[in-house]
Amino acid sequence: MIDLERIRRDTPAAETAIFLDSAGSSLPPTPVVETAVAHLRREAVVGGYRAAIERKHDLAAVKTSIATLIGAQASDIALSDSATRAWSDFFYSIPLTAGDRILMCEVEYASNAIAALQRAAATGARVEIVPSDPTGQIDLLALEAMLDERVRIVSLVHAPTNGGLINPARAVADLAHRFGALVLLDACQSVGQIRVDVAELGVDALSATGRKWLRGPRGTGFLYLCPELSASLEPPALDLHSAQWIGESEYRLAPDVTRFEFWECDVAARLALGTAVDYLLDIGIDNAEEAISQRAEYLRTALRGLDGVSVHDLGDRRSGIVSFTVDDLAPTDVRDFLAAKGVTVTVSPRSSTLLDMTHRKLDAVVRASPHYFVTFAQLDEMVEALRTR
Ligand SMILES: Cc1ncc(COP(=O)(O)O)c(C=O)c1O
Repeated sequence: MIDLERIRRDTPAAETAIFLDSAGSSLPPTPVVETAVAHLRREAVVGGYRAAIERKHDLAAVKTSIATLIGAQASDIALSDSATRAWSDFFYSIPLTAGDRILMCEVEYASNAIAALQRAAATGARVEIVPSDPTGQIDLLALEAMLDERVRIVSLVHAPTNGGLINPARAVADLAHRFGALVLLDACQSVGQIRVDVAELGVDALSATGRKWLRGPRGTGFLYLCPELSASLEPPALDLHSAQWIGESEYRLAPDVTRFEFWECDVAARLALGTAVDYLLDIGIDNAEEAISQRAEYLRTALRGLDGVSVHDLGDRRSGIVSFTVDDLAPTDVRDFLAAKGVTVTVSPRSSTLLDMTHRKLDAVVRASPHYFVTFAQLDEMVEALRTR
């Protein structure tokens, strides 16, 4: 059980606003904000370099906290500035040649798909889409039929941006590994809202962001890499942190996953990300998951009861993302109408998940993503606002 009272005290804005956009960029709890602000203030006194040295151990502890959350070792984590950056740093480092195959899921996120198409054009590899099954999840039978020894990588989105399903990552990893393919899990929408354990899931790499379900600051993210890969892949871009300049025509890669990091970073944001992960570890990921899932299901059920409202979530297993449309209103108008009532939701356009949305004949959906700090009374208020629109 979560301590809702304490959590809401730590999230002052949740008292006055009905905030349903944690799938976009959540409300950080007060300790997260304080960590970032305190560090910025310190930088203003002693300068950024000295301020960072003073927090050297805390900075190292950020990786330890992330590793604890996802069942990894701190030495498997590279800190990044977004989920996309983390995803592409890994993706672009996989050697590809003409005829190699890249499998992506139908709910693939646009940034990932664009990167894959770019690499395919540059290398002669092919991007192929594994269809969704009738439940909306990745079709495991289709995946099995598509796999062969030319498949280098299977990209799976754990929880798609535009609707409430969670893909079966473990089953995908088991199948892909039978054919020697790597599995890259886009966990941008799952880390922080459900238990994500890399050892249990068996994935080779995972990318995530800080600002969504982890309630960390913007401009933060991370890459998990299984230890065998971090010492063998060469990232597409290097600096003096990811590599060492050792001679006129020579450089040496960092021996571990730090080869996927650049030296310059937003130290205040990274420290605050650590605070956010610790905050979640203190609540307990299972408690957080249960609270989020209860809220999302409650909202889905209530929305389904409204005339002219259609809920578009698929999947056997549901996430905290609730997507819907209203018959007589464009999704952007629903968003603006709700904003005027103090309710924050966002819109997921077709272009973010082009193939899935096209397949389902959807142009855009309204996305409501209640975190554990939202009360059921607030969800009732949101539904009532829509009922009396
Ligand atoms: C499923 C999914 N993957 C990747 C991303 C990209 O994350 P970032 O903006 O941190 O790069 C998003 C962002 O909404 C997402 O929903």
